[in-house]
Amino acid sequence: MANLKKERTLVILKPDAVQRGLIGEIIGRIERTGLKMVGLKMIMAQEDQCWQHYNKDEAWFLSKGEKVLENRQAAGLPIEKEAIEYGRDIIGALVKFMTCSPIVPMVFEGNQAVGIVKKLVGSTEPLSSDGGTIRGDYTLDSFELANFDGRAVRNLIHCSDQVEEAKREISIWFTEKELLSYSLINEKILYDINLDGLKE
Ligand code: PPS
Repeated sequence: MANLKKERTLVILKPDAVQRGLIGEIIGRIERTGLKMVGLKMIMAQEDQCWQHYNKDEAWFLSKGEKVLENRQAAGLPIEKEAIEYGRDIIGALVKFMTCSPIVPMVFEGNQAVGIVKKLVGSTEPLSSDGGTIRGDYTLDSFELANFDGRAVRNLIHCSDQVEEAKREISIWFTEKELLSYSLINEKILYDINLDGLKE
């Protein structure tokens, strides 16, 4: 079996999390699960890093763009370009957002880290994220409003969606040297089989 305890996921606190003073609050929520932080930095992201990170294909642009077209039609707004262009604009706006102020990329490690962080973060659109999740509790944006204004949805945080995707994303933001190998005291009670040395 793969070493589940060593699974890693990428988390990025976006400009809205930084500007709204939510860095500590959000890290605290992730930390309390028992996941181990193995990388952390505060940076001004480069545009090309962001395009590499949001590595979407034509099919993604088309399907998102068609949704934007539907919403514009329903709202009686003019259709000024092809669906695929509206789809590309979503990532263009996201890159503009991600480079407008510092962001905080982090890597967390532990049992099924990707799934654990996804559960805490909630679904992409804050409006429909469950209460109790980071996006559901700390912000209020919707795709409808973001697309209407031609800007990125402000959903505070990015997290990896799949284990393989996490590996690809981590390599964009961190070098191997920046990811630390160490033990946390917590890991004994979380994972240790024998539990020796806890009684006095
Ligand atoms: S999906 O639905 O899983 O394919 O999309 P995802 O990979 O989560 O999307 C990548 C980022 O695009 C943003 N996004 C949107 N913005 C505005 N309108 C719409 N409809 C939309 N769909 C996706 C969203 O911010 C995703 O980035 P992250 O960093 O994951 O939030």
